[in-house]
Amino acid sequence: TTNHLRHVDSLTISPSGAGNISHLNAVILGEALASEEDDLIFPSDEFSRQALVPSSAKYLEMYKRSVEDPAGFWSDIALRFHWKAKWGEPVYSENLDARKGTVKIEWFKGGITNICYNCLDRNVEAGNGSNVALYWEGNDPGSDCSLTYSQLLEKVCQLANYLKDIGVRRGDAVVIYLPMIMELPITMLACARIGAVHSVVFAGFSADSLAQRIMDCKPKVILTCNAVKRGSKVICLKDIADAAMVESAKNGVPVDVCVTYGNQSVLNRESTNWKEGRDIWWQDVVPKYPTTCHVEWVDAEDPLFLLYTSGSTGKPKGVLHTTGGYMVYTATTFKYAFDYKSTDIYWCTADCGWITGHSYVTYGPLLNGATVVIFEGAPNYPDSGRCWSIVDKYKVSIFYTAPTLVRSLMRDGNEFVTRYSRKSLRILGSVGEPINPSAWRWFFNVVGESKCPISDTWWQTETGGFMITPLPGAWPQKPGSATFPFFGVQPVIVDEKGVEIEGECSGYLCIKHSWPGAFRTLYGDHERYETTYFKPFAGYYFTGDGCSRDKDGYYWLTGRVDDVINVSGHRIGTAEVESALVSHPHCVEAAVVGFEHEVKGQGIYAFVTLVEGVPPSEELRKNLILTVRNQIGAFAAPDKIHWAPGLPKTRSGKIMRRILRKIASGQLDELGDTSTLADPSVVDQLIALSDC
Ligand code: WTA
Repeated sequence: TTNHLRHVDSLTISPSGAGNISHLNAVILGEALASEEDDLIFPSDEFSRQALVPSSAKYLEMYKRSVEDPAGFWSDIALRFHWKAKWGEPVYSENLDARKGTVKIEWFKGGITNICYNCLDRNVEAGNGSNVALYWEGNDPGSDCSLTYSQLLEKVCQLANYLKDIGVRRGDAVVIYLPMIMELPITMLACARIGAVHSVVFAGFSADSLAQRIMDCKPKVILTCNAVKRGSKVICLKDIADAAMVESAKNGVPVDVCVTYGNQSVLNRESTNWKEGRDIWWQDVVPKYPTTCHVEWVDAEDPLFLLYTSGSTGKPKGVLHTTGGYMVYTATTFKYAFDYKSTDIYWCTADCGWITGHSYVTYGPLLNGATVVIFEGAPNYPDSGRCWSIVDKYKVSIFYTAPTLVRSLMRDGNEFVTRYSRKSLRILGSVGEPINPSAWRWFFNVVGESKCPISDTWWQTETGGFMITPLPGAWPQKPGSATFPFFGVQPVIVDEKGVEIEGECSGYLCIKHSWPGAFRTLYGDHERYETTYFKPFAGYYFTGDGCSRDKDGYYWLTGRVDDVINVSGHRIGTAEVESALVSHPHCVEAAVVGFEHEVKGQGIYAFVTLVEGVPPSEELRKNLILTVRNQIGAFAAPDKIHWAPGLPKTRSGKIMRRILRKIASGQLDELGDTSTLADPSVVDQLIALSDC
């Protein structure tokens, strides 16, 4: 068993043990004891009693089994889903050690199932067809609608039939470029139903980014919408999709069909740019199709979706998830981390364009038959009380969001919160980046009125589902810690040599052994999969995150240790921003680092070297930012451009980012050793230009 398990174990099991035994017992007994050293926040007695995992002892019992007998643990859970044929033996097979051959992870291979069937048909057949599956809240207050499980199934079937009719087959890629309208989860589910592989591209990505993704996965069809309102702004998505398709066609990847949902109230048909023969109005074709559609039964290891994410090089990585393990894992993590009950109303503010929207807007909740709120708009439109008005309107009991939103609402003041009752809230959730203790406390005290546990879920696009997360009734929380590993997850902290460190420590976070929701490859580049994730620390999956473990075994995520930054919970590769900047004709070189940002968590700080003779100017600064917006998306726009006559480089030409990070954060007296630089005077020049 793992180190932290022994640790928690000893605390819980030996009654006379030192340390925090009283705290953990207190959870079991439901007594809140004040801690002398740590800020421990306890779930109430009442909460723990009703929880799925009511005590740390229960967690330990389940966790032990999950790591000692993963096949048995996960098979028992998997059997609750619908399988056309059961999986074979072994239940899973894995090789995480590239030295021993190709890295491979498989779960439930040979099992035949369909995730759309399990999300929809299974719930309808269980008699829950009239339960609301999705509440949709539009950008403008007052615009809303809902779909029951039966209605959602019908909508999905119509689209699935249409897609089949235009030739989309099992294994084909489908690109989805849609805002948060019902049609987004509908399209994901329709693809899953017919065995097509969806690749959702967040609707905030630019034409260039969309084109890049189209060129990589070569979709049979793309589905988009003509325009959408976000806050008071109108965004013409179809124009962006058009530009992307022109670009991809130029590069030999034409898109044959572009299905466009007409958002009539935002932009009418006549005003939408149109290419006859390629473009089709969704509303003209899809409603004509039958409302039932055969399910394409697929192998558990058949691909379900591709989702591009940022890495440390300029080229985004197509993270590939398969069907069976992902299904079992997202459903189970959702259920336990949010202590889900059939009476809950669940709202996750994430967009389906990110992994959180895949696993915890669409699949995880629907697999549990949950009622999900989806929100099209912006959290501060028309004002900063919008989230709480939505909570009251739908009686949301589980509210899952990102620290950046918490911080921005915190800044806007408590009145926006206290104006609303929020009495339906039971559990709060956080994802995307470490939540700082002060934001945690505000979320807990003001939003949750000190009665809602916070599930601070640590996970990644690659992991498919939660990896380290509180189970809200099981143990006390520490503000800012993601607490303990989920069932079946074996985190280890290693030093730079890849040696596991025990007990209280900090280092690089790796995972030992596979879990059902793990990604199986990077699309079209298995070698990069091995190199990025499995070779840095042989035998482990390397997360790219730094982490520490305290004396009680709690895990504290400390942020990325690679060249990825996390801006408002969005993962951005510094190399992507750099390559956008250097595409500007006046920029010869750029180096991008993150810096601490009050609301966004991290902001983007770009050092830019201009072509000889080009003077820096405000106009050029704006142009450079615009270039990044156009090439990646508005969310990746640099917060700061620092003119750099030169960049600090080693004699071998490597940029010393450590120094740039210090300059960006204003820690000029902590630059460290600069003597190994090829030209140490570069640093003085940079400092001299610090505030321009
Ligand atoms: C960060 C989002 C601390 C982390 C689900 C990770 C977090 C990256 C947390 C993955 C959290 C996510 N605490 N850090 N609760 N959740 N992260 O792929 O750095 O968009 O590696 O997946 O976000 O981002 P991704």
